[in-house]
Amino acid sequence: MKIIGTGSALPKEIVTNDMLAGFLDTSDAWITTRTGIRTRHLQSHETLRDLALSAAQAALVSSGVQAEDIDYLICSNVANSYVSPSLGSILLGPLGCCCPTFDLNGACAGLVYSLDIADSFLKTGKARKILIVAAEEPSRFCNWHERETSVLFGDGASALVVTEGESFVDFRLTGDTHTDILYYKRSMEATPYDRVEEKTTPLVMNGREVFRLAVNSCIEDIDTLLERNGKTPDDIELFLVHQANLRIIDCIREHLEQPKEKFPTNLQNYGNTSSASIGILIDEMSRAGELKDGATLVLSAFGGGFVTGAALLKWSQINY
Ligand code: COA
Repeated sequence: MKIIGTGSALPKEIVTNDMLAGFLDTSDAWITTRTGIRTRHLQSHETLRDLALSAAQAALVSSGVQAEDIDYLICSNVANSYVSPSLGSILLGPLGCCCPTFDLNGACAGLVYSLDIADSFLKTGKARKILIVAAEEPSRFCNWHERETSVLFGDGASALVVTEGESFVDFRLTGDTHTDILYYKRSMEATPYDRVEEKTTPLVMNGREVFRLAVNSCIEDIDTLLERNGKTPDDIELFLVHQANLRIIDCIREHLEQPKEKFPTNLQNYGNTSSASIGILIDEMSRAGELKDGATLVLSAFGGGFVTGAALLKWSQINY
């Protein structure tokens, strides 16, 4: 499998830490030192559909693939305003794709999970060209009266077009049950058999525990991936890690004893955009010519569940 097109889209509204400090008991100093985040883009007038559509269209244009030639649309999304139909179904018509689609909830690791599935579809000949869209609106899960989670997230979408090729070398995905440390519950209707109506619960997070699991599991994923492919951290040009917290990325980097330049970040500007984050980074860096042809990259992501996903690949340059 190789990536032949990339796209991303962010809401127009840029919200600074100082703006949040205007209505939450927080400060620019706290958010910056604990997370590295300075601003985030939050949906105001756009919908998630708009962002997903524009990221997908940009990816299609850069790939040179026509929408009708896409064989599968895989949509990575934790939740949107519809439980059903899927976000993938919502996008098919406006994109002009007529192919099977499904949404995948791999939390913030959803893009790596989608790539892993796309790789299998391509290897078995089930599809030849796949559009992956990772679109997330975590700002709509948070309790905006509490400072613990709302300062961390941003909204956004990214998209990749993938086809047959030799770029991706290996994946490592893991999963474990830690439901209590990071969850978002939807409301449930009462039925004649179960009269308990359940109200939606804004995102609940045990930040310290998520931090610990994130660092340990990403390190384990990357170490395993490198070892079983006969590589050392020095062989890797860039590590593109889920953009949740600069301190998480620094802990992983320090374990691997690698310089800062090898761990590019954009979370300063966008916050944690969940499964869209690595795709936004890839799109921005690829368009800026910062992903060199033949460069060996590691992608590494983690998210609620607890799930993780990492991939090892050689980048093939895209001409925009
Ligand atoms: N502004 C100011 N103070 C805040 C705050 C905020 N936005 N959020 C929490 N605090 C306070 C806490 O109430 C606590 O106060 P106390 O000492 O009086 O009890 C203090 O800051 C320290 O809280 P703590 O949770 O120990 O901070 P931390 O160093 O662990 O940083 C996170 C908190 C959330 C930034 C960090 O744990 C983290 O990033 N975890 C991972 C989260 C994540 O990535 N989630 C998404 C996964 S995909």
